[in-house]
Amino acid sequence: MAKKIIVAIDGWSSCGKSTLAKQLAKELGYIYVDSGAMYRAIALYFLRNNIDLTSTKDITVALKNINLEFIFNAQNGSSEIFLNGENVEYLIRDMLIAEKVSNVAAIKEVREFAVAQQQKMGAKKGIVMDGRDIGTVVFPKAELKLFMTADSAIRVQRRFKELFEKNPNISIEEVKDNLELRDYIDSNREVSPLKQAKDAIVLDNSNLSEKQQFQLAVDWVKEKI
Ligand code: DC
Repeated sequence: MAKKIIVAIDGWSSCGKSTLAKQLAKELGYIYVDSGAMYRAIALYFLRNNIDLTSTKDITVALKNINLEFIFNAQNGSSEIFLNGENVEYLIRDMLIAEKVSNVAAIKEVREFAVAQQQKMGAKKGIVMDGRDIGTVVFPKAELKLFMTADSAIRVQRRFKELFEKNPNISIEEVKDNLELRDYIDSNREVSPLKQAKDAIVLDNSNLSEKQQFQLAVDWVKEKI
């Protein structure tokens, strides 16, 4: 049997990280973990409970009351995130959360909370995880690290299409501003900012089809197992 590895996928917002990560996990029979969903669910909890992001004490207490779980949905074939027993997979994709999540994800205590859980999930390997700090902080020894990027206009279009299906009132400017701001905060924060791991393979999918990028990634995985 082939050895099990960890595949760490990092990169800018709306680069198609989760699409590729899901496809790879399915192909390999691995667990897929969307680490961004964890930060989004925490942001949702903070929003609902009016947590003061400047108060370490309030944040620490809030985190003690948060339980995150990924549960596989056999109907759509993907795992969904549950916040204290509630399926919030759909809710966390809202623009309201997109506007708040980068500030929440920049908080040291929040990152320690999420990273500890992510490392536990990967302890037995056989996992594909996507995010911003997976290859640098969560699994610095991951056997395969990908750093995904794409032309920013293409990324805006992709995210706009996704959000427009849910909310036809959304404007492309709104999506563009949000993506730019999130990328700025994510790559400039003090604690584990988004950056390319030294040993990561860069995957620019601006001009690649989903099928082409999947094939490339499968070939890289094969070299490792
Ligand atoms: O991948 P996403 O867009 O769902 O991520 C939501 C936010 O969470 C993103 O703005 C940055 C943050 N994030 C992070 O800081 N570290 C991760 N490993 C994953 C996401």
